[in-house]
Amino acid sequence: MATAMSENPTPAPVDLLAKFDPIIQTREALLAAGVEDPFNLVMDKVLSPTRAICNGRDTILLGTYNYMGMTFDPDVIAAGKAAMEDFGAGTTGSRVLNGTFRDHRDVEAALREFYAMDHAMVFSTGYQANLGVISTLAGKGDYIILDIDSHASIWDGCKMGDAEVVPFKHNDVDALEKRLKRVPEGAGKLVVLEGVYSMLGDVAPLKDMVAIAKRHGAMVLVDEAHSMGFIGAHGRGVAEEQGVIDEVDFIIGTFSKSVGTVGGFCVSNHPKFEVLRLVCRPYVFTAALPPSVMASSAASIRKLMHGGNKRAHLWENSRRLHQGLRDLGFQLGTETPQSAIIAVIMPDLEKGAMMWEALLKEGLYVNLARPPATPAGMTLLRCSLCAEHSAEEVTTILGMFARAGKAIGII
Ligand SMILES: Cc1ncc(COP(=O)(O)O)c(C=O)c1O
Repeated sequence: MATAMSENPTPAPVDLLAKFDPIIQTREALLAAGVEDPFNLVMDKVLSPTRAICNGRDTILLGTYNYMGMTFDPDVIAAGKAAMEDFGAGTTGSRVLNGTFRDHRDVEAALREFYAMDHAMVFSTGYQANLGVISTLAGKGDYIILDIDSHASIWDGCKMGDAEVVPFKHNDVDALEKRLKRVPEGAGKLVVLEGVYSMLGDVAPLKDMVAIAKRHGAMVLVDEAHSMGFIGAHGRGVAEEQGVIDEVDFIIGTFSKSVGTVGGFCVSNHPKFEVLRLVCRPYVFTAALPPSVMASSAASIRKLMHGGNKRAHLWENSRRLHQGLRDLGFQLGTETPQSAIIAVIMPDLEKGAMMWEALLKEGLYVNLARPPATPAGMTLLRCSLCAEHSAEEVTTILGMFARAGKAIGII
């Protein structure tokens, strides 16, 4: 007699990775064309904030977001070493259990000083800061109104919460107002914006947007990941530069860019802010950062408060590179330099990858960015400048772009 087993043979398993086949094929086609893998670069040795041995070559770094060059600052390194000696390599615990050390408190004090705000809460990354704060603030029945070009961590924060999510057209003040008008009366509203949008390096019209949000009774969260340290009179970001920082309810930031370490944070003047430490899952249910990272971050943040000269030089670099690339005939993400990010628009992924590789062979590292990270299906070579790039290095970089652009046929 046949068994039930043979009548109903075990079904073939559905391969859950099959949905990624188009991505695998695109990557294989790119590599078959002989291009180096742009997403598998190895930094064999880092020589300074602006130079490294990459895939065996001496390379100028123009894609690290190390805006203020703090990674090799002697005080930042010394503070980290001392904390490692005194407190060990890691915390092995959550901030709300055994993971709050002296330096976690100190880095939060440094953030409160830097932003002149009442509260600061440090997360393990900027990604987790957005994930945690957005999903915790906006719950069932609330509305999140956000720019459609928001960073993945903002979108993921929306997904993780139960709020209604309403995107509006990138940097479009009228579109924001239209969406706000449609939100039911009495509902909780969180408008989520970024100071600098990292793909094209453009700045948000925060002055108008924050005013509109407030007129409609919304709370405002601004992610200043790409502006901390060099935009605004005290380096507090675009909200400071445009005179609306006092109207912003929550500022999100990261240590992985201007601060030169790793970590994320939220600062706020909201009187009930501290309750977030008890209810925000990406804060509670993960290990706190190592004390060495916290001590380095605190030292870096305090130095950034006095970084006026470096800021001025970074802006000079940004203007020189933007003008130089335009003069060479490249199409750029912004008409004028608005931040330390300059995006060079490529005709397609294949040309973009070829140009990326040609630049690497010249001795220049930039970021290759493509959909879904980029807006409007664009392929971009994103350049991020550092205050430690010399004027001569910027000239060298322009020469590299000129040769690579001509070799690939983009200019
Ligand atoms: C706008 C924005 N927010 C948040 C993050 C996440 O920061 P982190 O690297 O600390 O996770 C990034 C990083 O790229 C970002 O660009």
